[in-house]
Amino acid sequence: MKLEGRIALITGAGSGIGRAIAQLFVEEGAQVVVNDVVLEAAEATVRAVGMDGNRAIAIKADVSSSAEVKDMFDSVARRLGSLDILVNNAGIAENLKMEETNRKAEARVGELMSGGPIRTHWDITQEMTDEEWHRMIGVHLNGTFFCTREALKLMSARNRGAIINLSSVAGLRGIEVAPHYGAAKSAILGFTRSVAREVSSRGIRVNAICPGWVETPMTQSMSPLFRAFTISQIPAGRWGQPCEIAQTALFLASDDSSYFTGQWLSPNGGLFTS
Ligand SMILES: NC(=O)c1ccc[n+]([C@@H]2O[C@H](COP(=O)([O-])OP(=O)(O)OC[C@H]3O[C@@H](n4cnc5c(N)ncnc54)[C@H](O)[C@@H]3O)[C@@H](O)[C@H]2O)c1
Repeated sequence: MKLEGRIALITGAGSGIGRAIAQLFVEEGAQVVVNDVVLEAAEATVRAVGMDGNRAIAIKADVSSSAEVKDMFDSVARRLGSLDILVNNAGIAENLKMEETNRKAEARVGELMSGGPIRTHWDITQEMTDEEWHRMIGVHLNGTFFCTREALKLMSARNRGAIINLSSVAGLRGIEVAPHYGAAKSAILGFTRSVAREVSSRGIRVNAICPGWVETPMTQSMSPLFRAFTISQIPAGRWGQPCEIAQTALFLASDDSSYFTGQWLSPNGGLFTS
């Protein structure tokens, strides 16, 4: 039991990677706050981890709203008294225009297979609206800041804690189909490094996870051909499973990683090596 007696809040834990982290943390003895912007999803995770009541509670909040985040942490302070672990996991890919992206990906593969050159251009940035840009930054980067700010107030009272931020391989090397996503995930790495240095003297550690492609609802709308193309670039020959990312989160949340701070770990099947 690596997290016995610890209290953990996981954002966006109504699905995918966040749900797998909640499940594993409960199995390892933690009391878990399951946040999601969709209450029913958070409640479904609480049921899925099979520890209704004391060991897991669902709280609805939109992490891109500082007011909702503050209310959520006030509620955690009232109900649980403290916080040991924060996982900034909530994320979106809803405005990636997947139909068009799939179509272009397939056209580009066809062009490559017939000897090139590539004539179908991505042209994502030049067509992006202000709203799409701000929404992506709002959920990923602002959400990570808002939750970290409130978590640090609770963790500072006891001078201990672990914060884990979900970045991505997209934050390390870029992603051609989602420049706003890549920008947010890179900025999360910069924020991770700076806050880690800032709060280290308080005994609070801040690290990031940069997964490669993972089988979750977020990635389900990719066409079979586009998906196969991504797999052809992964030495392991497959996408990752949410439970494999959860194991990385467990390591960074537990005392096993007591000398890690300001770092990123990338479970990615060899997709990106550095
Ligand atoms: N799936 C991948 O291939 C992959 C790869 C690298 C990084 N990631 C990152 O991992 C994290 C989890 O992704 P996933 O694949 O499990 O996605 P998912 O879509 O399965 O789950 C994301 C959850 O976040 C919730 N959410 C969305 N906006 C929110 C908000 N404003 N406030 C609170 N909750 C909100 C959603 O309702 C959903 O339950 C994300 O940050 C994502 O960018 C995913």
